[in-house]
Amino acid sequence: MTDTDIKKGLAGVVVDYTAVSKVNPDTNSLLYRGYPVQELAATQSVEAVAHLLWTGELPTGQQLATLREAERENRALQPDVKAAIDLIPLDAHPMDEVRTAVSVIGARETRGTLNVMDAVGTPQQNLERSTRLFGELPAIVAYGQRRRRGLEPVEARDDLDYAANFLWLAFGEEADEVVVDAFNRSMILYAEHSFNASTFTARVITSTLSDLYSAVVGAIGALKGPLHGGANEAVLHIFDEIGSAENVSAWLDTALTEKRKIMGFGHRVYKRGDSRVPTMKAALDTLVAHYDRPDVAALYDALEAEFVARKGIYPNLDYPSGPAYNLIGFDTLTFTPLFVAARVVGWTAHIMEQQASNALIRPLSAYNGPDERHIEGYVPDTSTI
Ligand code: CMC
Repeated sequence: MTDTDIKKGLAGVVVDYTAVSKVNPDTNSLLYRGYPVQELAATQSVEAVAHLLWTGELPTGQQLATLREAERENRALQPDVKAAIDLIPLDAHPMDEVRTAVSVIGARETRGTLNVMDAVGTPQQNLERSTRLFGELPAIVAYGQRRRRGLEPVEARDDLDYAANFLWLAFGEEADEVVVDAFNRSMILYAEHSFNASTFTARVITSTLSDLYSAVVGAIGALKGPLHGGANEAVLHIFDEIGSAENVSAWLDTALTEKRKIMGFGHRVYKRGDSRVPTMKAALDTLVAHYDRPDVAALYDALEAEFVARKGIYPNLDYPSGPAYNLIGFDTLTFTPLFVAARVVGWTAHIMEQQASNALIRPLSAYNGPDERHIEGYVPDTSTI
């Protein structure tokens, strides 16, 4: 085996088929089950897109009503989940809360499944589990933010659709339509992105015939990292460091001299720009106008223009979504949990696809450790005991 046989980071490796979404870096496009994501974000609800990703088709009116009813039935913050979250220190990262909460839900929802051969569940069970998780996550994410602000959880609102209710749960007041629309778009754009690190993690776990919740818990762990989902909150840290548009040049000089990664830029697949960015940037622009914050747009534009000019590396979705969530009023620490609530749809679509045509995911490695050696001759050093 030679160095060229090693596909570090699995870069460029095609490991399976998927019908869930298609990323095409040449045409800068992203299709969910064939539909361009920007068309879906402009016209559909998060719930309709969830139906599309799970089943392969946009819902009929009746199917959408049924999904919305199921989602509403699961909106409440359950006592077991609240109790588990309350055990987590307030200065732990909220992704730890979300990861723990899904673990608790998994134990609750798979109770009695003591024969490990039954862990995987039936396709119908897994569709129902996906819907329930989709319904429960907003209250979990919102409660995390509220308890860090010293606030009690608020009751879900059955008269509001998913995105509007999510904002209600987080802030305890009804959001303006323009804000709901921008948030709805962001959740659709975040819902799915083929074999990214967290989705692949979910598929690896699923491939062992483990259960859907275990796969989602693993995916949340993968998403937490700043090279993946954690980048949206890292963008805000950068914005805070820079302060305002006129500081961009000097800040970038130092950052590049220090060989820092500029969060919210670059992508493993897209090399000429992330297909989701123009749609999310348009949503950010509506928020900038709504909240009258031209300073945010100025900083955004200045950093993008200067970094692209210097490095030829383009923004990814986390670059516009970070400032958008900040304008809506979310704490920076809540950004990646919001990504979880959206991406759970894509993860579970992939989990169900993996289950339907499973093969254990088990790659090979090239060994570069010591040559074979033997215990005979090993004498423990006891001088420091
Ligand atoms: N800032 C500075 N330099 C960069 C950046 C960046 N954001 N992205 C890539 N580069 C440079 C990198 O230093 C390397 O340069 P050199 O060849 O001189 O060492 C070159 O570009 C190739 O980068 P890489 O990290 O080897 O490429 P990759 O395909 O492994 O990286 C990436 C993809 C997303 C990990 C990387 O672009 C990055 O770390 N970006 C910042 C974090 C970020 O925004 N992540 C969100 C990704 S999109 C949303 C998601 O999927 O979650």
